[in-house]
Amino acid sequence: MLPVTSTFTGHLKTAEAIYDGPASNLIGIETFSGSNENKSPQHAVLLGMSGAGKSVTVCDLLSQTEGYFAYTVIIEEGLSYGIYTQTVEEGARPIIIHPDGDLTINYLDTKGLPLTPDHLSAATALVARMIGTSSQEDKQMLRQAQIAKYLNLLYEDSFQDWQKKRHDQCRERYPSHRRKHGFIHCDLWGV
Ligand SMILES: Nc1ncnc2c1ncn2[C@@H]1O[C@H](COP(=O)(O)OP(=O)(O)O)[C@@H](O)[C@H]1O
Ligand SMILES: [Mg+2]
Repeated sequence: MLPVTSTFTGHLKTAEAIYDGPASNLIGIETFSGSNENKSPQHAVLLGMSGAGKSVTVCDLLSQTEGYFAYTVIIEEGLSYGIYTQTVEEGARPIIIHPDGDLTINYLDTKGLPLTPDHLSAATALVARMIGTSSQEDKQMLRQAQIAKYLNLLYEDSFQDWQKKRHDQCRERYPSHRRKHGFIHCDLWGV
């Protein structure tokens, strides 16, 4: 529910950040709410036209609540928080990702863990985004299904190559019933 009355004061006693209210009052903001054992994060959305002051407001909130957090991660487009990061820690620099940059994110990497449906679907969604989305739902579904199919094949091929190179290792360490489902089990057992 939105606070529509001008007497809204939020959580003044336990406030992590304070703001001016519309009736010359103070409003207290908590980033987590609930009893000590059962706190849940207070999600928020900030709406406004470009230049209305959204980024400035969030920088202000982050600065006020800084002391309550050991680590802050900001994912953004446009580097609105570049100065803020420098105020938090000397030498802190944003990691800038852009198409012709020198940073590569290998979205196929499972970090040595088994391939999960979650990972495959995230990889599929990313590729679908990169090639562009269709406004027609059926076309989009078909595209994603095709991408998922080829990503699956890619994983399977990579595993086959890997398995050929380390065949001896697989045979020594894992009984035949495990080898039968090579990909899942070899990966799962961390070869
Ligand atoms: N409370 C404020 N007081 C003074 N200037 C402000 C305030 N909020 C925003 N501004 C000015 O407006 C500019 C745009 O604000 P910004 O937070 O980047 O907008 P948004 O993120 O909504 O596009 C800022 O660079 C700043 O100069
Ligand atoms: Mg902004």
